[in-house]
Amino acid sequence: MTINLQRPVLAGNWKMYHTPAESRKFFSEFLPLLPERLNGTVIFFPPAISFSEALHSVGDRGGVHFGIQNVHWEQQGAYTGETSAIMARDAGAELVLVGHSERRQLFGETDEEILQKVQAILAAGLIPLLCVGETLQEREDGRAVQVVQGQLSAVFHGLASEEAQQLLIAYEPVWAIGTGKTASPRDAEEMHGRIRQWLSERIGSGPAADISILYGGSVKPENAGELLRTSNVDGVLVGGASLDPAGFARICTALS
Ligand code: 13P
Repeated sequence: MTINLQRPVLAGNWKMYHTPAESRKFFSEFLPLLPERLNGTVIFFPPAISFSEALHSVGDRGGVHFGIQNVHWEQQGAYTGETSAIMARDAGAELVLVGHSERRQLFGETDEEILQKVQAILAAGLIPLLCVGETLQEREDGRAVQVVQGQLSAVFHGLASEEAQQLLIAYEPVWAIGTGKTASPRDAEEMHGRIRQWLSERIGSGPAADISILYGGSVKPENAGELLRTSNVDGVLVGGASLDPAGFARICTALS
């Protein structure tokens, strides 16, 4: 899929929040706060059950895109409770979150499964937004870069370089998710720079520069501007603060 993801990329991961009715209410309050000509691209990842309601609430408003939070790697089958990438595409999704730390930690998703999901997402013509990030223990042990590179490597080794260029990446340190602790702009700059360097070595510096690298972990209206101005931070992936229409509108307009 080719969609023009103009930077900054401002993404909201709603996790398991906002029913269909709450999604409709969210957009009735959020859309009037979004400037007609937005500097950047806004993406929402609503829960699967609220996806259609959210999509239809936005209508054909330019600059707002939708993704789904998780897919199975098979196209269809006897997998009760699961959704496939082709189903997500048919419903109007353009992107899929994959490898989120909550899926890795709470649902035991492995690097092998994450690669299979990325391949299924690309095969369906959708854009994977691959999440990577270290735990507090891994950071304190001085292994943050190694862990993140391992997560990247587990996926990129299974992709052809044209496929690799279609990914988006989110660096989400696990210790910063839902904790109120944000990585400092220096921490973010350092890790984003390492990720860009790693990508350059694998796919060349031109294609690596085109891959947007988002930061996620306690992004709020108060810190979004500073993070978005940090070098190699091409956007943000926001959890809790994306549930509030006024707050997320402030994040979306932080650089406008
Ligand atoms: P918070 O913004 O609530 O810390 O969540 C970040 C996240 O996990 C986005 O995917």
